[in-house]
Amino acid sequence: MKGNIDELIKGLSLKEKASLLSGGDVWQTEAVARLDIPSIFLVDGPHGVRYVADRHHADPAQKATCFPTAVNLAASWDLDLIKKVAAALAEESKARGVDVLLGPGINMKRSPLGGRNFEYFSEDPFLSAELAIAFIKKVQNKGIGTSLKHYAANNQEHKRFSIDAQIDERPLREVYLAAFEKVVKKANPWTIMAAYNQINGDFATENEYLLQDILRDEWGYDNLIVSDWWAIHDRVKALKAGLDLEMPGADPVNDQKIVDAVEAGELSQEIVDESAARVLDLILKAQETEKNTELPAEEHHQLAKEIAGDTIILLKNQGDLLPLTEAKIAEKESLLVVGELAQEVRYQGIGSSQVNPTRLDNHYQALEDKFAEELAVHYTPGYSSEAEAEENENLREKALREAENKDYVIIYAGLPDKVEAEGYDRKDMQLPQEQNQLIKELAKVNPNIIVVLNNGAPVDIRQWLDNVSAVIEAGLPGQAGALALAEIITGEVNPSAKLAESYPLKLEDNPSYLDFPGSNGTVRYGEGIYIGYRYYDKKKMDVLFPFGFGLSYTEFAYRALEVPDYLAEGEKLKLKVLIENTGQFTGKEVVQLYISQSSPALERPPKELKGFAKIELEPGEKEWLELELDYQDLAYYHPDAGWIVEEDQYKIMIGASSRDIKFTEEIQVESSFKLKDLTPKSPFEDWLADPLGKKAVEEVLSQEEIEEIGFFKAWPIYRLHFFAAEQVSLEDIEDILDIYQDL
Ligand code: BGC
Repeated sequence: MKGNIDELIKGLSLKEKASLLSGGDVWQTEAVARLDIPSIFLVDGPHGVRYVADRHHADPAQKATCFPTAVNLAASWDLDLIKKVAAALAEESKARGVDVLLGPGINMKRSPLGGRNFEYFSEDPFLSAELAIAFIKKVQNKGIGTSLKHYAANNQEHKRFSIDAQIDERPLREVYLAAFEKVVKKANPWTIMAAYNQINGDFATENEYLLQDILRDEWGYDNLIVSDWWAIHDRVKALKAGLDLEMPGADPVNDQKIVDAVEAGELSQEIVDESAARVLDLILKAQETEKNTELPAEEHHQLAKEIAGDTIILLKNQGDLLPLTEAKIAEKESLLVVGELAQEVRYQGIGSSQVNPTRLDNHYQALEDKFAEELAVHYTPGYSSEAEAEENENLREKALREAENKDYVIIYAGLPDKVEAEGYDRKDMQLPQEQNQLIKELAKVNPNIIVVLNNGAPVDIRQWLDNVSAVIEAGLPGQAGALALAEIITGEVNPSAKLAESYPLKLEDNPSYLDFPGSNGTVRYGEGIYIGYRYYDKKKMDVLFPFGFGLSYTEFAYRALEVPDYLAEGEKLKLKVLIENTGQFTGKEVVQLYISQSSPALERPPKELKGFAKIELEPGEKEWLELELDYQDLAYYHPDAGWIVEEDQYKIMIGASSRDIKFTEEIQVESSFKLKDLTPKSPFEDWLADPLGKKAVEEVLSQEEIEEIGFFKAWPIYRLHFFAAEQVSLEDIEDILDIYQDL
């Protein structure tokens, strides 16, 4: 492609420009041969390159490394690890001739049932944003584009193509858009993908408020906005709202609609030019990167294993049953591996993110390779997802007989593929019945039961949790997950991952429960800002495993916190935490920083994550870990005033999880911001409660007069001359309003 973008635009006919605004096929942009404008490839996805040549997905994708899925990557709480995955994905994109990777996905996990939760990072916008920024910067640094998705509020699969998510302004901004805002401003993704669903009555692809007003005008995003696949309903409306590229294509019908609208004077030529220029800009950027390089499959498989090891969470380890180190098993003889999933591994979810792996390891084989010299490793299926009840009973009985005389039993449980898939939400949080029953019964015949869970979202394991010794949440750890797990079981790798979402005791406890997945075509986000731990904390509810929780084979002591007690406006808060490894193993600890504000004008959650860091320490080693908090991260979203930081006392909490806070310190934060949301209709008592309102009132009325208003304080200030005529005149009220405005 020759020439600069302005010249190219001048040289293109209206029809050609319109053709650039939809794809050339399912995965490519349209080429314009006359001007040497090539097409480029946009391909899924978040944890591996899914390059499908065939339009109807009939062919499997070309092979690529399947890295751990987003649920796992988030559990690492490790930005360096995210960068490693991102760099490898960029290399694989080059190898496959891919220009833009369709990911990462940063929608919030509103309900544990969301069918694509495994593709998303967290229930927390801060964590999601930090991970996505690291991911995008690294991929783009290597010359490959990303697509931040799905903008916005794509938090369920039920009626995903049409559901109208009704969200109030504050939760929309503070929870559902917050991560997008930060990522756009800090990582500037080459593209953003507009979601399928509607938000407050307009499709995300046609939503002028979301695309133009917020994304472009407020956040200053000037790169390309692409539709999710087949997500546009009214092409001209979408274009006017700011959506540049319709995917997939080619869509001559919609292209013609663009031409007709311009010719009829309903759509300005300028809008078409701007969007076509963004497509050209993307093509130009993409072309700078050399493609069709070698894919280092074996090296990346090893990398996928290393990464997986840091994304697997130890949930329970009673009596330090794990790890099964050489010393510990020296006197032991046998290990029984149980479960269909030990052989037919679950390592990723179903749908558009599905990668065709270069290699796939299974758990049984991996354990055999590890233990064959020390222990006799036996296998029995124990259950089958395909079998009828009777056959499952036989499988269970056989497993029980085998388990009786074994030293250890490792059971691989989890959700079947079809239960966790794009396009469907789960119906409940249960594991398959035959698995629960098997685990319960095995726990009666053997004291050393280790359960490995393979699932991309929380499951309810209360019926056997107390009866087993160890539980490992493996998540969906990618193609080398089995090897990583085996290394965790032997202790070669010390687990260091922590939950990036809460595990509620039961589904009914989840804040979205009454409003998920909605009815009559809409889903109301009635819980407002109280998503995940923000809600469980607010309601002081017990959870099964809290946000940020995960065990290690070693112990960490939080020795000291150093934090200034004052933060000046706009400054960064710098603090230090002294951490010591007091256990027997080298290990990594995820240290979390939460804040709360003492007297906000609007309610805030009791705890909000605003920082984290991971540190590796050898036994006996201690180190000061430095954390930073951006001033702006203290802000919350006020519907009348936008993001605000109020002058106030704030708590700085340092924790090993959201429910294991080790230090709390108060700091005073300076702010020149003055909230002025009082109006003549505000109750007089609100005027008195507000510092500026009170000041204005006190300049006009005496303390005595204020007190005498008594009972009438609940009325709007503009009525006081009527109810409290002796104390307040109409003129007084006007004076108060004027003084307030000038403060
Ligand atoms: C999914 C997107 C994906 C696209 C292309 C859609 O159905 O929602 O996440 O990137 O397909 O495969």
